[in-house]
Amino acid sequence: MTLTLLRGRTLSFTRLPDDLTDTTAFTYESDGAVLIENGLTVASGAYERVRADLGAREAIEIDHRPHLILPGFIDTHLHFPQMQVIGSYAANLLEWLNTYTFPEECRFVESTHAQRIATHFFDEMVRHGTTTAVAYCSVHKASADAFFAEALKRDMRMVAGKVMMDRNAPQGLLDTPEMGYDETRAVIEQWHGKGRNHVAITPRFAITSTPEQMSAAQALAREFPDLHIQTHLSENRDEISFTASLYPDAIDYTDVYARYGLLGPKTLFGHCIHLSEREMDAMSETGSVAVHCPTSNLFLGSGLFPLKQLTGRAKPVRVSVATDIGGGSSYSMLRTMDEAYKIQQILGQRLNPFESFYRMTLGNAEALSLEDRIGTLAPGSDADLVVLNVAATPAMALKAEVIRSLADELFLLQTMGDDRAVAETYVAGKPAKAGLVAA
Ligand code: GUN
Ligand code: ZN
Repeated sequence: MTLTLLRGRTLSFTRLPDDLTDTTAFTYESDGAVLIENGLTVASGAYERVRADLGAREAIEIDHRPHLILPGFIDTHLHFPQMQVIGSYAANLLEWLNTYTFPEECRFVESTHAQRIATHFFDEMVRHGTTTAVAYCSVHKASADAFFAEALKRDMRMVAGKVMMDRNAPQGLLDTPEMGYDETRAVIEQWHGKGRNHVAITPRFAITSTPEQMSAAQALAREFPDLHIQTHLSENRDEISFTASLYPDAIDYTDVYARYGLLGPKTLFGHCIHLSEREMDAMSETGSVAVHCPTSNLFLGSGLFPLKQLTGRAKPVRVSVATDIGGGSSYSMLRTMDEAYKIQQILGQRLNPFESFYRMTLGNAEALSLEDRIGTLAPGSDADLVVLNVAATPAMALKAEVIRSLADELFLLQTMGDDRAVAETYVAGKPAKAGLVAA
């Protein structure tokens, strides 16, 4: 089997950094290497050492110096059928859903449309250095089939689910409790564990699922306890009131999901902007994950995610970060963390660049309980990598002349970077940027 040796500056986190002085939270090599065999990272560290360990074996060497090699970015919440919803002009979440998003998702009943968008979706992931994403498909099984088939073709580690929704949306976007159950089961049987595919149980949110459908989601969660679950929680004030009217017996929004056994360490709750202390306690006690989607929260005017309040409390809540395409306005995790930084600035909190880069990589892998596979350059993990160029544009190159530290470099990448800063993306050890549909 061919060995590939990547040379460049390497950066990989081992835990959440406390602050900018916490240099023991990551491994950085100014002349580093990643050795890849069979789609896996088999060694990483100082170039001279990795090269010496290779001995007489031959390897194809690719020199990425002076660029930075990191684990590929992970996006923990986005909607694959919303690529053509991005940039839709609406006053708030519910207007945006009803006016643009639901009608657009109706088109995914057609396999050919779903397949076309799936091709573009994976191209954008690769272009932006995102090697794992957690996606909502549409309600139609055909959309999940198109998504997973494309993921399999590209050998990408993806988490996704057929959306379950049986009310408060157009007829063309509704299943029933039975259909939602049966089709999710069929998707699990057909796709889970095939290649690097993971199927997630995906009730869209409490507004679009009847109590009967929530029970169906609960039944699936019981039958398949290892699967991820994804839904939306506490994004918008009107959404919260509408939910309360639909589930009058629940103490609060989080309790709606708790009543159906949907809280837990594999559950990803999109948004979580307006949680009460009681809800945060419930999230913390169950190990549930609050998924922060900064560009979406600003674009839809949903609110400011209290990151430090969630992570810094006596009972901390697990947090991940995500683009939330198409409520979100960029596919780039760099743009995403730039907006996350600005939200924390407004809240009077600091989000340092080491924390940002931890969150896009190992932090998101931990939130998915996949840190043994992705988000790291550790030997034995998947060789899913991103190569970043801090001088990707003339303006970045000019600013890069005066940076003095790794923290400066990461902060510049976050503040000004986007897909242009992604010099290469490796998926299972193979360079993936060449051959994308649109250059
Ligand atoms: N809540 C329910 N569905 C959606 C969606 O598609 N996007 C966002 N941002 N929130 C939602
Ligand atoms: Zn969403």
